[in-house]
Amino acid sequence: MGAAKSPEILFLKQEDVIKAGVLDMKKTIDDIETVFKMYAAGEIDQPVKTLMEFPDPITKDRGRLVVSMPVYLGGNIKRAGVKWAAESLENQRTGRLPYGIDLVILHDLDAAHPVAIMDGTLITAMRTSAASGVAAKYLANLDSKIAGMVGAGVIGRTAIETYLATFPKLEEVRMFDLDHSKSEGLAQEFRNRIKIRVADDARQAVEGAEVIATQTTTRKHFLKREWIKGANFYAQMGTNEAEEAEILGADVLVVDDWGAIGHYAPGYLAQLVNAGTLDTSRILELKNIVSGKVKPRTSPNQHILFKSMGMGSEDIIVAERIYQTAKAMGIGQTLKLWDNPLWL
Ligand SMILES: NC(=O)c1ccc[n+]([C@@H]2O[C@H](COP(=O)([O-])OP(=O)(O)OC[C@H]3O[C@@H](n4cnc5c(N)ncnc54)[C@H](O)[C@@H]3O)[C@@H](O)[C@H]2O)c1
Repeated sequence: MGAAKSPEILFLKQEDVIKAGVLDMKKTIDDIETVFKMYAAGEIDQPVKTLMEFPDPITKDRGRLVVSMPVYLGGNIKRAGVKWAAESLENQRTGRLPYGIDLVILHDLDAAHPVAIMDGTLITAMRTSAASGVAAKYLANLDSKIAGMVGAGVIGRTAIETYLATFPKLEEVRMFDLDHSKSEGLAQEFRNRIKIRVADDARQAVEGAEVIATQTTTRKHFLKREWIKGANFYAQMGTNEAEEAEILGADVLVVDDWGAIGHYAPGYLAQLVNAGTLDTSRILELKNIVSGKVKPRTSPNQHILFKSMGMGSEDIIVAERIYQTAKAMGIGQTLKLWDNPLWL
C-alpha cells in the first residue's frame, strides 16, 4: 500500500476556457466530425441523457430544465466525462445570466477521480452549432449564398460562425428574433464579416433562403413548411420549431442521435413515430453519413432536415482539447478533493 493521494483537479472558469481556444469554430467542427466518426466506429459509450423539465412560472410551458450527459470516449482519447446542463427562461427574461449554463467534469477512468471541472457554457454553444456545420458539410449544397435564421441568442451567434466556416460563398444571413435588439446586435457584431439583414418576422427571414437554421427557445412551432421547402438544408437546434408537415415532407430526415430524440416524448419526431405516422426507417443518423455508410443527397433539389438534440460526446471531446491546452499553457486553478481521505 502506498501513501494516500490527494487528487488535483484543474478548474477552468469561462475566461480560462476562452484562453484555451474554445472560440475556434474550425477546430470545434473538426472535433465534432471526429466524434461522429468515433460514434460510427463504436468507440463511444453514450447512455441516453437524463433530462428533467419543469414548467416556467409565466409561460406555463417547459421553461426550465436540467440534463445529465455521461460519456466515455474511447479510441485514442480514453476519457470519461459528464456534462451537467441547465436552461431557464427566467434568465432570458432578466438578461442577467445566459439562458443555458453548463458544467463539464472530466475523469481519469483508472484512478476514478476527476481531473478537470470547467465552464461548459461556451463549449455547448460552440459544439451545438458545429454539429450543424458537420451536418451541412455532408448534407447541404455548399455553394449556398443565402442563409435564413431564426433565434439571435447565444446559439444564433455560433450558428452564424458555423455557416461562415461551412459555406465559402455565403453572402447574406437573414435573421429574425422576437427581440429585435438581438438581431441588430449580431448584425453590428458581424458587420465586417458578413451582411446580416434583420428580418421583421420569421417568414421574411427564411422564405427564399437556401439554407436555414433555427435556434429559439420557443416550444411551439412557428415555421411553416411552405416557407422553407425550397431550401436545400435546414438545421433545427431548438424544439419543435417547424410544424409537423416539415418533418413529414422533408426529402431526407437526419438526426444527431435517435437514442435521445426518440426518447424525448414532447418532440414532434418521437410523437409522430409513436403515433405510427412516421416510420423510423425514414430517420437517418448523422454518424452513418459522416462514416460514409449512407449518402442521402442524390440531387441538389432535395430538402434535407437535420434535427439535433445535442450529444455529451460532443462536449467531452471539446472539453478534452481545452483541458490539454490549458495544462500546456499552465492556466486554471488547481483544486484538491481532500488533504487526507477518510476511510482509506
Ligand atoms: N440541439 C442542441 O444540441 C442544443 C444545445 C444547446 C441549446 N439548444 C437549444 O437552442 C435554443 C437557443 O438557446 P440559446 O442558448 O441560444 O438561448 P438564448 O436565450 O440565448 O436565445 C434564444 C433566442 O430565441 C429568441 N426566440 C424565442 N422564441 C422565438 C420565436 N418564436 N421567434 C423568434 N425568436 C424567438 C429569443 O428572443 C432569444 O433571443 C434553445 O431551445 C436551446 O434548448 C440546443
